[in-house]
Amino acid sequence: MAGSRGEFSSRLGFVMAASGSAVGLGNIWGFPTQAASNGGAAFLLVYLLLAFLLAYPALMAELILGRHAHSNAVAALRQVSTHRLARGIGAFTGVAGLTVAALILSFYAIVAGWMIAFCLSAVAALFGLPPVADWLMSFGLPRNILLVTVFMVLTISIVASGVQAGIERWSQRLMPALLLTLFILAVYVLTLDGAMDGLRVYLMPDFSRALSPELILDALGSAFFSLSLGVGTMLIYGSYLSDRENLPLLGGIVTLVDVSIAVLAGFLILPAMYVALHNGVEIFAASGALISEDTLIFTVLPELFATMGLAGTIVSLTFFFLMSIAALTSSISMLEVPVAYVTEQFDRKRRPTAWIAGAVITGISCLILLNFDTLFGLVITVTTRYSQPLLGFMFCVYAGWIWHRNTLLQELKKGYPQAQHSLFWKVWPWYVKFICPLIILAVFAHSF
Ligand code: PHE
Repeated sequence: MAGSRGEFSSRLGFVMAASGSAVGLGNIWGFPTQAASNGGAAFLLVYLLLAFLLAYPALMAELILGRHAHSNAVAALRQVSTHRLARGIGAFTGVAGLTVAALILSFYAIVAGWMIAFCLSAVAALFGLPPVADWLMSFGLPRNILLVTVFMVLTISIVASGVQAGIERWSQRLMPALLLTLFILAVYVLTLDGAMDGLRVYLMPDFSRALSPELILDALGSAFFSLSLGVGTMLIYGSYLSDRENLPLLGGIVTLVDVSIAVLAGFLILPAMYVALHNGVEIFAASGALISEDTLIFTVLPELFATMGLAGTIVSLTFFFLMSIAALTSSISMLEVPVAYVTEQFDRKRRPTAWIAGAVITGISCLILLNFDTLFGLVITVTTRYSQPLLGFMFCVYAGWIWHRNTLLQELKKGYPQAQHSLFWKVWPWYVKFICPLIILAVFAHSF
């Protein structure tokens, strides 16, 4: 089977695709706003520690399992053991993972559709079409359905083209575009009045907020979401890696890129919030707390851009373009999970499979949109808060307890001959066996 499946053509291709998956709305919006209300630099420190101490080892479990099996999560987890029950539970975990990946995509596409709408609205404003611009900014059902569909068509087209011609090629184009846009925007915003106040909040640590157990547990959940863990995304990307690659190194690079972009995004979002405050836009509620994240992005930022005249329209266009790209490189990795499973397991062609799976997910998105008040929050909570950590727990258990240690070492040695004597091998097996599952269980218990 391995011969006919896709493979990343280069190390860079993998790094771009995997960090493209990891870097998404979670990093560029979620992390900075959390840091803003939770102790600035102190939160940053907690986040860095969690990313490297918890998320990285869990990421490694998925990458190694995937590369070893060179197949989708269902087959990969099944082949870890010869025991019937363990094989059955493994297959079930894989199927649950792809279902959750599809559900995450169904709400992610809605949010991404809003990003595209705001980006296009700025374009319409530049072309002197205020009615179109206003329609795109309004929260109407037709607009939402149209833009979810646009976003899903983009996602499906890339996935349908395959690993090298689709995922790898587009990640290599979009990730540099994302970095450049982020950088330019941050530099521009930092020159505006009020930006320095934001920078101060970001860089001054307030440990009283950041060290509360409540917050640490919450940050754990975000670290999982941010590195795309628990749903088989990283497993499937790992399965497209060649045996020559050094897995601990590649996983480390992906974690580093993910975290760095979150940190960089902080240099844009926090200053932007305080520029808004300086321009008379409300960013704090009466209680003194920052107003909620979604209100902040869809009302506060546009208000800020509106105070900036023509420059504001251009900044708005660039900002929402950035968010749309970040969402797209993540959404392709979500769709790849069910598509890889169906093509491999049922011997189907990739292109029609991608279109059918994508259409089903678009249908679910529309269903959510039609019952927005009940379903939107529910799907987010069920998938990211409960399912992702629980499935991540299963991946760690399979890598740490069910898989034979020797086979695991042989897998690592393929691209890293000195693996046995490395620090990684001294720490990681023990870590993924005890620490990761325990921490994940703590997070899970806490969410109840
Ligand atoms: N990591 C992505 C983000 O930060 C979200 C994601 C979750 C992607 C699960 C794939 C799988 O936005």
